[in-house]
Amino acid sequence: MSTVTLEEPPMEAPQRLATIKTDENSEVASKIMAQFHALPTPVEDNPLLKTPCKDALNGTTFLPPLVMDTPPESPVVCEKPQTVLSNLHDGPVSPEHKKMHPPSSGFLPLEPPSLTSLIQSMSDKDPYNTLDKALILDSAREIVRQLENPGERAMELLMSFSIVPILKIAVDMDIFQLLATHSELTASQIARFSGAEEEFVVRIMRVLASLHITTITSPRTYTHTPLSQTFTAPPLAAGISVVHEQAFRAASRLPEYIAAHGYHNPSNPRTGPYQFAFNTFDSWFEWLAIRPRAAANFNAFMTGYRAAKPAWAALFPVEDLLFQGLPDANHADVTVVDVGGGFGHDLHILAEHCARKPGRLICQDQASVVGSVPAALRDQAPRVEFMTHDFFTPQPIHGARAYVLKHICHDWPHEMAVQILRNIRGAMTPGYSKLFILDLVMPQGRVGLPAAGLDVVMMSGFAGTEREERLWRELVEEAGLRVAGVWVGEDGDGLLEVVFDGEMI
Ligand SMILES: C[S@@+](CC[C@H](N)C(=O)[O-])C[C@H]1O[C@@H](n2cnc3c(N)ncnc32)[C@H](O)[C@@H]1O
Repeated sequence: MSTVTLEEPPMEAPQRLATIKTDENSEVASKIMAQFHALPTPVEDNPLLKTPCKDALNGTTFLPPLVMDTPPESPVVCEKPQTVLSNLHDGPVSPEHKKMHPPSSGFLPLEPPSLTSLIQSMSDKDPYNTLDKALILDSAREIVRQLENPGERAMELLMSFSIVPILKIAVDMDIFQLLATHSELTASQIARFSGAEEEFVVRIMRVLASLHITTITSPRTYTHTPLSQTFTAPPLAAGISVVHEQAFRAASRLPEYIAAHGYHNPSNPRTGPYQFAFNTFDSWFEWLAIRPRAAANFNAFMTGYRAAKPAWAALFPVEDLLFQGLPDANHADVTVVDVGGGFGHDLHILAEHCARKPGRLICQDQASVVGSVPAALRDQAPRVEFMTHDFFTPQPIHGARAYVLKHICHDWPHEMAVQILRNIRGAMTPGYSKLFILDLVMPQGRVGLPAAGLDVVMMSGFAGTEREERLWRELVEEAGLRVAGVWVGEDGDGLLEVVFDGEMI
């Protein structure tokens, strides 16, 4: 059983501005709250709200509304859409894309055989087939919504507070691992394996079974499910710790913080909801940098949680963007710099995709991250070079073909994200270098909870934000750069191709 550590002691860090106290009325918390009360009108201070909006619909790319255009009584056939839905060079949505739309109201009269055949037809397609799945899941959820009693559903939503803490306990007790290695386990066996009290085990297993994460096969006897098996993957187990220890805790104090802030977006990553919840002036990353165990969880989560999705190098036309238009002789110059690249996982995938192409692949991150890259990962892709670099300082690698910022900008408020981009601009060769920004491009329509929830993590943990295309364009232009193309995948994952036309500022 893993040891449960309630609060990891921070390492010595002279640069820290305040010690972490558990007392929420500590000096730090009261200072943060005092600042908010002193703020006259946060709207005036917020660059996101100050900047004039362009026409919101002008050139906007978003997941097209799903339109069910097959008559319900005939077998439903979903066309496989292009993975990459749109490139703004060619207009917002590719003409080949078939729009599908789950009904937003009313009951979808799907005949069970049609639904079954639809699900079966998915098996021969790619393993992600997100649009097909979205259609079926949306239809199935609509059926549930029609059937469920709103009062019961409301209670279910209220009780969902328990999910994250119970998942964390299950991971700490190694329950998912235990179930994965035994065909069936009783509460008393789990209690014996994990050193817990049997009656406590029963209560934890009750919650897991209520969520269909595990199955109760007979009284006090449990088996695994595909979902419980999924939680045995180290990145996901690490992710549960990250979400519980950082995101959940910060979000739990968000209502108080945001009420004191006049219901405006947090805009300072050192005095945001996270700092209010943790009684510190450290940013999320500074907090992590002095807690090796929490940092290891965060990096493992970042390295592996994308495993459930296609890699960006496979999702977007990265090779074309890198090599198109270059004479073969120049391919040796193609250097890709992944700025804030963590353990280099994305460059590993790029190295596989471009195995026959020469060129340097450089992964930059903070010293604490670069220093903890596991040796096995370095050995796996010896071509990836690691370099310590703070992206708030000028980019030291000049004239690379591509700089990559994946899941970086969403961690930072507007002004700081502009600074990150400007530092890269200073190293770009006009007409040759490109900047690939990989982050969600929020559609204006509905998104699923993973995307909407991630935005709440950015809001409460980082004073950052997921951005709509309009906000991306404002950010890029303010940094003196230009958006040359936007690709948006089915679930909002986006790639912005950004170029530098020459001195503009
Ligand atoms: C959300 S993670 C994204 C990691 C990786 N790009 C990915 O997509 O999985 C953000 C990364 O930014 C790094 N980071 C944070 N502040 C940084 C700074 N000032 N300079 C360089 N890297 C930084 C973190 O260490 C972390 O690896």
